[in-house]
Amino acid sequence: ADSELQLVARRIRSFPDFPVPGVLFRDISPVLKDPDSFRASISLLANHLKKAHGGRIDYIAGLDSRGFLFGPSLAQELGLGCILIRKRGKLPGPTVCASYTLEYGKAELEIQRDALEPGQKVVVVDDLLATGGTMRAACELLGQLQAQVLECVSLVELTSLKGREKLGAVPFFSLLQYE
Ligand code: PRP
Ligand code: MG
Repeated sequence: ADSELQLVARRIRSFPDFPVPGVLFRDISPVLKDPDSFRASISLLANHLKKAHGGRIDYIAGLDSRGFLFGPSLAQELGLGCILIRKRGKLPGPTVCASYTLEYGKAELEIQRDALEPGQKVVVVDDLLATGGTMRAACELLGQLQAQVLECVSLVELTSLKGREKLGAVPFFSLLQYE
């Protein structure tokens, strides 16, 4: 029988030259389409987090938008709630913002001020880590709320872009690594 990791790995597709020439796009859509693969992805992330942090995690934070595909299920599997970190301009009420660099220009992430209490412990989830700019901006935002980021996780890590180095002392875990 396939291992859980194989169930995930065989549902990651690669598209050359998307969204721009020279970029090999890793597509997680087939993971969501295959219930065994999706279940395996959540189970592997949840088991890692249980081992690493036991019952110390207060919330899972999902990143707009592909992190939202995994955040609530991962939280549910751990018996936790999920909070949302969104692209700027989508959230009502008092918020805080952090900007980050994209291949072309800048983008901003935003979180509601009352999403977390100071000192609460959070794990951030996204589909993929590339340059790490998005994940780092999420950590900065959570820092602005004085939350503690225990770890960041993703399904896919593009290792040659060295995104994990951008996260400094925050631990990072990925299910699958590609160059
Ligand atoms: C993609 C991906 C990660 C991010 C990784 O999101 O889902 O969030 O890029 O890149 P980085 O490590 O270089 O920051 P994207 O901004 O394309 O938007 P989406 O999730 O809304 O599709
Ligand atoms: Mg994204």
